[in-house]
Amino acid sequence: METKFWELKKNPEAAIGEAAELIRRGELVAFPTETVYGLGADGLNGTAVEKIFAAKGRPGDNPLILHIADTEQILPLTTGLSENARALMDTFWPGPLTIVVPRSEIIPDGVTAGLETVAVRMPSHPVAVALIRAAGCPIAAPSANVSGKPSPTNAQDVAEDMTGKIAGILDGGNCGIGVESTVVDTTSPVPTILRPGGITREMLEERLGVVEVDPALNGDPALRPKAPGMKYRHYAPKAPVYLYEGPRAADRLTEAAMRAQKQGMHIGVLCDDRVKARLEGSLRRGHTLEILSWGEGKPDLAEHLYELLRDFDRLAPEMIIGMGVDEKGLGLAVMNRLRKAAGYQILLAEEDRIAVRSGKDFPEFLLVPEE
Ligand code: TXA
Ligand code: MG
Repeated sequence: METKFWELKKNPEAAIGEAAELIRRGELVAFPTETVYGLGADGLNGTAVEKIFAAKGRPGDNPLILHIADTEQILPLTTGLSENARALMDTFWPGPLTIVVPRSEIIPDGVTAGLETVAVRMPSHPVAVALIRAAGCPIAAPSANVSGKPSPTNAQDVAEDMTGKIAGILDGGNCGIGVESTVVDTTSPVPTILRPGGITREMLEERLGVVEVDPALNGDPALRPKAPGMKYRHYAPKAPVYLYEGPRAADRLTEAAMRAQKQGMHIGVLCDDRVKARLEGSLRRGHTLEILSWGEGKPDLAEHLYELLRDFDRLAPEMIIGMGVDEKGLGLAVMNRLRKAAGYQILLAEEDRIAVRSGKDFPEFLLVPEE
């Protein structure tokens, strides 16, 4: 299949009109949102929705989010909204929040993967909004990556995964937030975060009072996540990833990187600007490290994480070592993604020692404390 690529700088209305027409005809079009790129289909057309699963190689038991452009558009999709659901819609829509509500009959089973609930989100990205309005239907859209790869945050990464498999790609530049929307179950008595994202736990609690976080998100394999998609090993680059967390994470990462270069290892280092500057100040010329920085704070980490994981795949280091951040604010969402990328191979860099937080068989050079 030939995949159209629309550069939106030129003539956005015409391109969005063409893309909407393809959606109405049951084809797939990738489009930008404020979180990550989505792979869209007419959400009320079961045949079109099936094409999403084929293009992504997505397991059929993983339900999709329906994207809408106006609040009233949710009404035919659900049998009823709880007070919590309405409060969240009023406060956080449009934006990076998905709510899980009871589904109505008109939704194809492919969208909900047989569940009695449906996930709905109203994005704020102007291209997404214009596309949904022009298509005149809710748009079912997962992230526009091949299943198992990091979500795409720019149109080139979408093209890498989807060229030849879908009808078109709307290029709206880089996504600002960079991690997927927060998914909140509003059907339980206490609202529960099923996937942390752009709207933080603190923001939800300020509006709703108590909010729970699905305990399965901590990586305990005995617990089954309530969002089916959270059980898969997403966001995984090809090389194994090891993480340092805790108060001395930056120091331990710096020391390990120095040892790796002495041994001539070709390894990736994922860190912030400070650690990168410190390393580059002390490394020999012609060193064998691939040091990629996300910038300064958590918003930079969220914005660039997926792009950096994809960059590491191109650089093909033998392994990647990185550092974590605390779980306040956006930290919960980025650490959820980063820990998954690391397959939960995590060391805790305490003040006076390195402990294993989770995982096993760590390479020796990560564990030696500097004398
Ligand atoms: O930011 C986002 O949400 C992006 C953009 C494109 O909007 N979309 C996205 O979709 O991340 P996807 O399909 O990659 O992730 C949807 C998540 C999955 O973990 C899925 O299992 C969960 O939402 N989900 C969907 N419907 C659900 C339901 N009825 N109950 C529980 N979890 C659900
Ligand atoms: Mg996804």
